[in-house]
Amino acid sequence: MQKPIGIFDSGVGGTSIWKEVAKMLPNENTIYLADSANAPYGEKSKEEILSLSIKNTEYLLNAGSKIIVVACNTATTNAIDHLRSHYDVPFIGIEPAIKPAALQTKTKKVGVLATKGTLSSSLFHNTSKLFAEGITVLEQEGKGLVELIEAGKIDSPEMRSLLATFLDPMLKENIDCLVLGCTHYPYLIPVLREMLPEHINIIDSGEAVARQTKAVLEQNNLLSDSENRPDHIFYTNADVKVLKDLVDDPTAQISSKDF
Ligand code: SIN
Repeated sequence: MQKPIGIFDSGVGGTSIWKEVAKMLPNENTIYLADSANAPYGEKSKEEILSLSIKNTEYLLNAGSKIIVVACNTATTNAIDHLRSHYDVPFIGIEPAIKPAALQTKTKKVGVLATKGTLSSSLFHNTSKLFAEGITVLEQEGKGLVELIEAGKIDSPEMRSLLATFLDPMLKENIDCLVLGCTHYPYLIPVLREMLPEHINIIDSGEAVARQTKAVLEQNNLLSDSENRPDHIFYTNADVKVLKDLVDDPTAQISSKDF
């Protein structure tokens, strides 16, 4: 089962998920698509997100993927049901980590930073309803954050001022957990840590997704039996620089390609 785990995202952000997957499954080959030419997905219509998700999925399946991780909250909430019902491989999606936040919060107030496409989806609302009963969930659209991350402006004055406008209203409401509902946002954790009071927990979904990927591979008898160093292949349909900086792994094969 040396076939790769296929992973796609609207851009470079899903590499935060790839890192957790590669750490938890060190024998697995991976192939990652960064659809940066079409980022951000969060501002697109459901039809557009679905059609881009189908394009990425078909590329990854043609490359032999045995499972697909939709490493994008917006694509998960808008396309995963369709993908699961049209293709035979298992799909792993990303949901905002509302459940752990609801279990951890003491103030009973949780902030969620995510894209418009995620916050307006029924999957997000159903998850909140199911896991956050009795908890106030303060939703904040992170408009503009993905664009800055894609441009490599992670710790920049523009980023800090944008984040301040998003965080201040939630802090005034006394949140004590901040859920990162977009796979690009974990790259903001060092900046967020400096901007947020120490008692606020920042929660993302990376480790849980890697755990789920491992469990589904096990259940389907798809785990790699190779002892060789795995191949990690990355394609972006934009410039490779930011992707290379974020992947930060000299063994990864990273190149630009139309897909
Ligand atoms: C976006 O492309 O707008 C963000 C991707 C995500 O929701 O994870």
